[in-house]
Amino acid sequence: MKITIIGTGYVGLVAGTCFADFGMDVTCIDNNTQKIESLKRGIIPIYEPGLEELVNKNYNAGTLKFSTDTSHLNEADILIIAVGTPAGKDGNADLSSIYSVINDIIAHVKTNKFILIKSTVPIGTAAILRQTLQDKCKNLKFDIISNPEFLRQGSAVRDFLEPDRIIIGSQSKDAKEIACKLYGPLILKDIPILFTDNNSAEIIKYAANTYLAMRVAFINEISDISEKLAGDIDDIAHGLGLDKRISKHFLHPSPGYGGSCFPKDTLALSKVASEANANCLIINAVIESNIQRKLRMAEKIIDTFNGNIRGKQISILGLTFKAETNDLRDSASIDIINELIKHGARIKAYDPKGMSEARKIFGTKIEYCKDSYDAASNCEALCILTEWAEFKTLELDKLNALMLNPTIIDLRNIFSPNEIMKAGFNYISLGRTDIIMDNECRNYQKLKVS
Ligand SMILES: NC(=O)c1ccc[n+]([C@@H]2O[C@H](COP(=O)([O-])OP(=O)(O)OC[C@H]3O[C@@H](n4cnc5c(N)ncnc54)[C@H](O)[C@@H]3O)[C@@H](O)[C@H]2O)c1
Repeated sequence: MKITIIGTGYVGLVAGTCFADFGMDVTCIDNNTQKIESLKRGIIPIYEPGLEELVNKNYNAGTLKFSTDTSHLNEADILIIAVGTPAGKDGNADLSSIYSVINDIIAHVKTNKFILIKSTVPIGTAAILRQTLQDKCKNLKFDIISNPEFLRQGSAVRDFLEPDRIIIGSQSKDAKEIACKLYGPLILKDIPILFTDNNSAEIIKYAANTYLAMRVAFINEISDISEKLAGDIDDIAHGLGLDKRISKHFLHPSPGYGGSCFPKDTLALSKVASEANANCLIINAVIESNIQRKLRMAEKIIDTFNGNIRGKQISILGLTFKAETNDLRDSASIDIINELIKHGARIKAYDPKGMSEARKIFGTKIEYCKDSYDAASNCEALCILTEWAEFKTLELDKLNALMLNPTIIDLRNIFSPNEIMKAGFNYISLGRTDIIMDNECRNYQKLKVS
């Protein structure tokens, strides 16, 4: 089966590479010439565990090709759209890249095609695209298949190869058959496949992301409650997660959700719901709760200095929106760092994979460090914003010796309070009663709740 994927980003590159690995003949197209040239030279423009090996294996085998040439659109049996759909200025999804692809299809495609939409698109988009193509190409038949993608950055290859489910929204029997061929290797592994209509498939994607965002916002609020009322969020999350109706996933406190999906998808769902006069009280509360969360996290850092961080040297470990990705899109680190700078702090930062993306965002506003120890040197507080594994194994004594003031503000709860206290740090974390070092007796005590 010949497949052309349009949009070679996190989703398009992973999907294209995995389909090629299934033995299909795949061409990945992108309008970013530099990206395509890098890929042809074996340079992977994103960091995703396991991806580089798989891309190079399939590229060298000839089953995976890269191109900027949209004339390839006519050669494929299936066209897969995986371009970005970021939030527009009004909060609605910006579909300009999708329409640009549709124009390319109108210009180049001369035979009937299956068009599979992997991009996350507002409800009703498949129907509009079907109508547009039908109006412009009267002699051709286009089957539009809504096939939302659920992979997570940081484990995208594994998620693509072992998804919880495959959702296929379509209107025709032919579309279902071709989707079954495309996903044959996964269906053989008993991965559930759900056939539905296009609108329902589109709603499933937005509802899934909004539900997960809601869990993040919820556990963050429970974490605040725990902090005020002397609880331990780790035990609370564990106790909650043992309930099978709740499950243990997405119950870890954080500085707020970020990334290229949750923020824009919650917003887009709220927009389409409002336009349809449907209630979206919970969705709006999730969005607002997350906005406030990020600001509250900056306040938490500032509070450590009794409200005045002017001129203080603050170090940030972790800039990406989660571990195992180089992506900073809508990362909590952006709002937090900007807020600290606004209050006069001097920022040094280090991230294992996100430094070049960070330079595009922060420019000369912050200092970039070569590793965690370089970041810690002469700082007055070290803030952990991303849960990278390498931060968990830092040599605490070495860190302590380098810092002007040994304070760690851990906004991912990667350390255990005992371990960090023993190493002589003041330690502030999430949802656990703040613990301070009693320097005289070298014991630690729980702060009294006021
Ligand atoms: N990143 C994720 O974790 C994830 C997960 C599930 C779904 N999604 C959805 O998948 C879609 C793609 O997300 P992404 O993170 O891969 O985006 P991305 O920004 O990483 O990649 C999009 C690619 O499309 C290219 N592009 C844009 N317009 C084009 C055009 N007209 N022709 C050819 N190429 C074009 C861009 O150059 C870019 O390389 C979005 O709708 C997103 O919401 C993303």
